[in-house]
Amino acid sequence: MKTLIFLLPVLTLLSVRVSAGPGCGPCVLDQCASLPAEGCSAGTVPDSCGCCVVCAAAEGELCGGRRAAARRCGPGLECVKSAEDKKSKLGVCVCKSNYEVCGTDGVTYKNGCALKKANLRAETEGQEPISVQNKGRCASAPLIVTPPGEVYNVSGSQVYLSCEAVGVPTPVLTWKKVLSGTKRMELLPGDRDNLAIQTRGGPEKHEVTGWVLISPLTKEVEGSYECHATNSKGEASAIGTIHLVESLDDIAVKKVTKEDEL
Ligand SMILES: *[C@@H]1O[C@H](CO)[C@@H](O)[C@H](O)[C@H]1NC(C)=O
Repeated sequence: MKTLIFLLPVLTLLSVRVSAGPGCGPCVLDQCASLPAEGCSAGTVPDSCGCCVVCAAAEGELCGGRRAAARRCGPGLECVKSAEDKKSKLGVCVCKSNYEVCGTDGVTYKNGCALKKANLRAETEGQEPISVQNKGRCASAPLIVTPPGEVYNVSGSQVYLSCEAVGVPTPVLTWKKVLSGTKRMELLPGDRDNLAIQTRGGPEKHEVTGWVLISPLTKEVEGSYECHATNSKGEASAIGTIHLVESLDDIAVKKVTKEDEL
């Protein structure tokens, strides 16, 4: 009997916390479900009754809902309810920031929430924490995504070589002609009036595309051309070749033999 009297103030304290929300029972922390051993991918939040600590809803997961069953999004996320279904109590967690970020681990994340998620994972696995190094993608050395190939055509025709490179910052493209029989290169366009260089950004972000345009094709411009891409992180290059043939029939023959090789 005496113990009950002693417990009474404790019980009243608990009953105060019961009023946290409709549908919420008394808050007995001992009865809270334990958090998953692997951690919560979007961090933890107090439950809707303000009692237990629970896993927050991650990006793309359902959130909202009524009373005790309500789920909250993790830090950096917001619960967006569908516009058509205003009555719906449920929404989806969406990242508040929607730009790419570069992590201190050198990985580009699609947004701040993806980085936060990776950081929480790193923390639970006892690895180095990951924070934002810079907005936008991580710097990376150029990569030639489409090298200049081989072209065959007759004297007087119009030909071109193209080259596509990607990198962060966006690479600068230059072309050089490989001088036959030597290891020397000549920076283009040089002084030939039948050769032009053109460069433009794209087609993708951080990409650049360049062309060597030749018209008319002459013996002097036949040969190998090097496409060279540079940025602050490094450089890359690839070689393409322009072949001058006697007649257009030679092109057909060369194409057939090429396909045979495949
Ligand atoms: C060869 O030259 C002709 C005429 O200038 C041009 O139309 C054609 O596209 C060229 N072929 C190649 C493979 O570059």
